[in-house]
Amino acid sequence: MENSQKKVGIIGSGLIGRSWAMLFAGAGYTVKMYDVLEEQLQDAMISIRGQITDLESQGLLRGSLSADVQCSLITTSNNIADVVKDAVHIQECVPENIDLKKKVLKSVSDACTSNSTVICSSTSCILPSKIFSHLPRVGQCIVAHPCNPPYHCPLTEIVPHPQTEQSVIIKTKAIMAEIGQTPVMLNREVDGFGLNRIQYAILNESWRLVEDGIMSPEDVDKIFTDGLGMRYAFIGPYQTIHLNAEGTKNYMERYSESIIRVSKSFGPVPTFDGKSLNSIHESISSEIPSTPADLEKKRKWRDERLVALSKLKQEMDKQ
Ligand code: NAI
Repeated sequence: MENSQKKVGIIGSGLIGRSWAMLFAGAGYTVKMYDVLEEQLQDAMISIRGQITDLESQGLLRGSLSADVQCSLITTSNNIADVVKDAVHIQECVPENIDLKKKVLKSVSDACTSNSTVICSSTSCILPSKIFSHLPRVGQCIVAHPCNPPYHCPLTEIVPHPQTEQSVIIKTKAIMAEIGQTPVMLNREVDGFGLNRIQYAILNESWRLVEDGIMSPEDVDKIFTDGLGMRYAFIGPYQTIHLNAEGTKNYMERYSESIIRVSKSFGPVPTFDGKSLNSIHESISSEIPSTPADLEKKRKWRDERLVALSKLKQEMDKQ
């Protein structure tokens, strides 16, 4: 249990804070979680124990430590200084609001007494320059944006502030890889980072195809579930084109003209409202009603499949 001497602080014990706590404990780190709500912390501890025990029984627990040991590494505190003290890494996971994040990160930075602690935010979409610039410890700050659910989708985008020290970038990539995440690097900040820029490009064209009456929402979804998504679980767009011809250059010799022609026909960014919003909502709701119980049932269905896919990928990667 080499890492148990090393402490990680988690600020915010909601959906993402809980996942990070499990991931760090899986690698043997001692984890201290903080939240403004005592009941959230209590709920987090119950939920984490349930999830870790479940994962162990399915053979999906990360790392080599038992569920009991991993649970014993995670504790809570309602004192931010207590969480930050001697931590090698702090992962901020409070709601996506610039003012709140600025305030919370300021308390973390003020409580921090070491120049080597990494102060990391989980923000999905806020630029590092909007939340770190006011901090005296800006050189120690960085974003590590996970993909939900982080335990089964290991991708983590690393986005530095323009003043983030090189050593902090190196340490963040290393700790993410150590806990079993897949860090990818953005060399400079850009709105939406990489994942959401690509996700939104897909959403824009999916929406236009339905709005223009060309396809149904159900059939657009099938393009992913039975087409692109089957490949993308294993190879990204670059490897896809490389394999779909005799290498990337040959692919572009054959297809770049069509790609440019089709791309020029893309319409403006949709407004995602009005008649199209109503009809898309209705259409999807006919299969998945928008009641909390039905949505939860489908989320569970989705997570079971993600777990199975993650297991398959792990097994195939071992071969
Ligand atoms: P959440 O709402 O589930 O949890 C937020 C937690 O922060 C709550 O427990 C809340 O009590 C606590 N909190 C609120 N104010 C606080 C304060 N001043 N100090 C300490 N704790 C405080 O939110 P979630 O989904 O966990 O998101 C957290 C961050 O992770 C956000 O920045 C979000 O954009 C990002 N993220 C979320 C993903 C998702 O799919 N939910 C995916 C990737 C990143």
